Amino acid sequence: MAVRIDGKVISGIIKDEVKAEVSVLKAEGTDVTLAVIQVGEDPASTVYVGNKKKACAYTGIISRACNLPEEVSQAELLSLIEELNADVSVNGILVQLPLPKHISESKVIETISPKKDVDGFHIQSAGALLTGEPGFLPCTPAGIIELIKRTGIDITGRECVVVGRSNIVGKPMAVLLLRENGTVTVCHSKTRDLRSITKRADILVAAIGKPKFIDASYVKEGAVVIDVGIHRGENKKLCGDVDFESVEPLAYAITPVPGGVGPMTIAMLMKNCLEAAKMQKG
Ligand code: GUN
Repeated sequence: MAVRIDGKVISGIIKDEVKAEVSVLKAEGTDVTLAVIQVGEDPASTVYVGNKKKACAYTGIISRACNLPEEVSQAELLSLIEELNADVSVNGILVQLPLPKHISESKVIETISPKKDVDGFHIQSAGALLTGEPGFLPCTPAGIIELIKRTGIDITGRECVVVGRSNIVGKPMAVLLLRENGTVTVCHSKTRDLRSITKRADILVAAIGKPKFIDASYVKEGAVVIDVGIHRGENKKLCGDVDFESVEPLAYAITPVPGGVGPMTIAMLMKNCLEAAKMQKG
């Protein structure tokens, strides 16, 4: 039986660490504030934003909700971001994605001040990640590193395979694993003979976007398997990119869905907000 990497427990520990530091800052007269912008009323986004606001309330971070209608113009959204950039009482700015089609996500992300880019999506944050300069790390891959380390797994010298190459997960994940001295391979939809590569992995990160895609035939015995996917299955049950029942018996450790990577993303967002406030305080 594999070790179950419990993202709920580990994210709870991180949120408690953040909460303790936020309360010290508060006692010194400094509040930590996150502005959360949601455009439109996409139900999934509303759930994600709600969970982020709940985590803020738990950690003592003030969340400032900015809800804009679906039809808002790009110019109006950019001017709101510029206002928040200039507002010294706001430490972090988060724009929930996806955005309506008439708005350029990249333009929006590049308008957020890198000092307040708590999602770690700005091109400056991406550059800092690549070169090892200080900057905000994207929350999901940073959370995965925490899950691996806090389970007592050393990444140094291990064969790490990331399946997926998105800007939000796959690419930054590969860079973070490299920073931890892993030997990293990135696979994607055009990769030939995917199985032969994933079968080499000591640490396998699945960020493919296809329900239960990774079954036992893709996994080496004793591997650490991290599942970034989240899907609603036929029976309405949540599942990931990994076929948990098939993979669990041969893995050394595995993240469940739900309760694995998901809660870590939000915990790391809280950590980034705290870091933003500390940095801005000087
Ligand atoms: N949409 C899906 N995941 C994320 C995320 O991590 N941050 C933001 N801002 N939007 C998202």
